[in-house]
Amino acid sequence: MAGAAVRVRGLAKSFGATQVLAGLDFDLAPGESLSFLGASGCGKTTVLRILAGACPFEAGEVAVGQGQAVRSLVSQNLGLFPWKTVLGNLTLPLDLAEVDPAEKAQRVEAALSDLGLKGLVDRYPGQLSGGQRQRLALGRALVAQPELLLLDEPFSALDALTREALGIHLAQLWRRLGLTMIIATHSVEEAVFLGQVIAVLGGQPTRAVAVFRNDGPKTAQAFTESHFMELTRKVRLALAEAWGPSANRVGSLQ
Ligand SMILES: Nc1ncnc2c1ncn2[C@@H]1O[C@H](COP(=O)(O)OP(=O)(O)OP(=O)(O)O)[C@@H](O)[C@H]1O
Ligand SMILES: [Mg+2]
Repeated sequence: MAGAAVRVRGLAKSFGATQVLAGLDFDLAPGESLSFLGASGCGKTTVLRILAGACPFEAGEVAVGQGQAVRSLVSQNLGLFPWKTVLGNLTLPLDLAEVDPAEKAQRVEAALSDLGLKGLVDRYPGQLSGGQRQRLALGRALVAQPELLLLDEPFSALDALTREALGIHLAQLWRRLGLTMIIATHSVEEAVFLGQVIAVLGGQPTRAVAVFRNDGPKTAQAFTESHFMELTRKVRLALAEAWGPSANRVGSLQ
């Protein structure tokens, strides 16, 4: 598995009369990671769906690899099949893609091992903990061997410690597999930890209003390093500025 380069220029998207995105630009090198932060409704999911090839757009350029790059999206609601077991959920995308049985068995085995799901193969999603469900959704995205992995608030339903542990685990997998990764999150710490590029989205319509880089290590120690904490502070300030100084966001969250 190798990462695809991503190039986005002047991306614009409307739903009916409402323009959600305008003039969104960014580049990712193969194997790089990008985090999106931004207010609820600013268009994070929309961008990920466009990158996954699941949502049309009006204007701009979106290039992922040479055009045929494999992309996996872990959606905000995970999209697991409740009537399929862990094994069934992992196998289904490979069945649909008619991957040959030996290759299929090897990929499923790797996902079970990478995501710590080996003892759970016969369980249904309803019989898993929140963290186990998140790991299953991630495993199901990885069996497709994506060149671009898109994650939409993947750990939002989890307690803080499980969330941090899964983030560290994801960072290890991302490094080892070399895939390009884009993650949308509301957690500043998670965005700074997982992203080499951190883009704060804002404005109306939405564009990237501030971009930061974090080339520091993506290990458990990172969270306590002064560079990480300082960057987190800067990103938080940029996010507050993008959010608007006087906006009553609770009032505007309609
Ligand atoms: N299919 C759709 N039809 C009409 N409007 C839509 C549709 N999908 C999204 N929108 C609107 O587009 C805007 C961006 O939505 P999107 O889901 O991308 O936001 P988001 O940044 O992911 O928000 P959140 O942080 O709450 O997940 C919102 O105003 C939303 O209501
Ligand atoms: Mg969303």
